[in-house]
Amino acid sequence: MTEQPLAPEQLRFLVAAAGAAPSLHNSQPWRFRPMPDSLGMYVYADLDRAVPITDPDGRALHVSVGAALFNLRVAGLRLGRDPEVRLLPDGAEPHLVATVRLARPSPTPLPFGRDLFKAIGQRHSSRQPFVNRDVPEVVSGELIAAALDEGAVLSLLEEAGVRRVLALTHDAERRTGTDLARVAETRTWLRLEKPAADGIPAAALGPQDHDAHVPMRSFTGRTPSTTASQRFEALPQLATLTTHGDRTSDWLRAGQAMERVWLLATAHGVRISVLHQAVEWPDTRWGLRDPDEGPGHVQLVLRLGYGPPGPATPRRPVDEILDLTGHTSTAG
Ligand SMILES: Cc1cc2nc3c(=O)[nH]c(=O)nc-3n(C[C@H](O)[C@H](O)[C@H](O)COP(=O)(O)O)c2cc1C
Repeated sequence: MTEQPLAPEQLRFLVAAAGAAPSLHNSQPWRFRPMPDSLGMYVYADLDRAVPITDPDGRALHVSVGAALFNLRVAGLRLGRDPEVRLLPDGAEPHLVATVRLARPSPTPLPFGRDLFKAIGQRHSSRQPFVNRDVPEVVSGELIAAALDEGAVLSLLEEAGVRRVLALTHDAERRTGTDLARVAETRTWLRLEKPAADGIPAAALGPQDHDAHVPMRSFTGRTPSTTASQRFEALPQLATLTTHGDRTSDWLRAGQAMERVWLLATAHGVRISVLHQAVEWPDTRWGLRDPDEGPGHVQLVLRLGYGPPGPATPRRPVDEILDLTGHTSTAG
């Protein structure tokens, strides 16, 4: 059985959900176009929204688009449709990173074990201190299985691993803070005074750790953060997300895995923030690999725990990211 073409409001619904995904500096580097038959969506990377000094290969950009793609899949399921995804379908068109065909009804209402749709609007980066409470093994087991299902390995680190990753992140954060070009680039994504549809508003910036255990990213460079320092959890719970390869398709998989883990964590009341600094320098990124886990490429470092949810950050309006040029709706 083939579903009806997607109606205009359904196209907007899908794109609004996709656009709520996390992205490096809230750059939102994505665009969407409906298929001519209105039975699916083209997903594009928007290279005009790249962060080129911090992310010269576009790796984090594609991780971000992967997260948006995962949200699109969840929203498609919410419409009762089975999302059929093809990554990088056309070698001649590298910006087209995926197609999502939504032509068939979903055979199962809960392919991810639970409905993750509500979590899309509840998920935010939480840069506040967490309480000293472990994520239970039953929950971390679910997160690990979810990542694996998306083709990535989520490793929750033991104490020695946490200390290794913290040291690398401190090192990377220090280097980033003295790299004037990177600091300047990051500042272009800060929206401290005027509200905007992208970038990071002051309300979303967290404090620095009073005891300097947890190297939260200082988005403002050397100038003091807008909030005073606070005491963070004594030993943060950190996880690395690793893929076997390190090509565009691996980055897109990593992004989907990150978002699936993040939405599932949100549904369990677990907060997440990204500690990406060490992934942004080749040598510290290399050091993030767990020598006992064998080869693999670390794509993300996540900090998990219990604490405040973090504020919602702005998103670009659907009309700016949904390209309807030449599209005539076949719905109805
Ligand atoms: C690839 C990637 C790297 C990120 N790196 C960091 C980071 O180093 N520090 C941080 O606090 N947030 C980081 N973030 C989170 C983004 O800043 C955040 O997703 C964005 O500002 C939107 O906010 P939201 O997650 O609350 O929706 C990263 C997100 C992605 C996808």
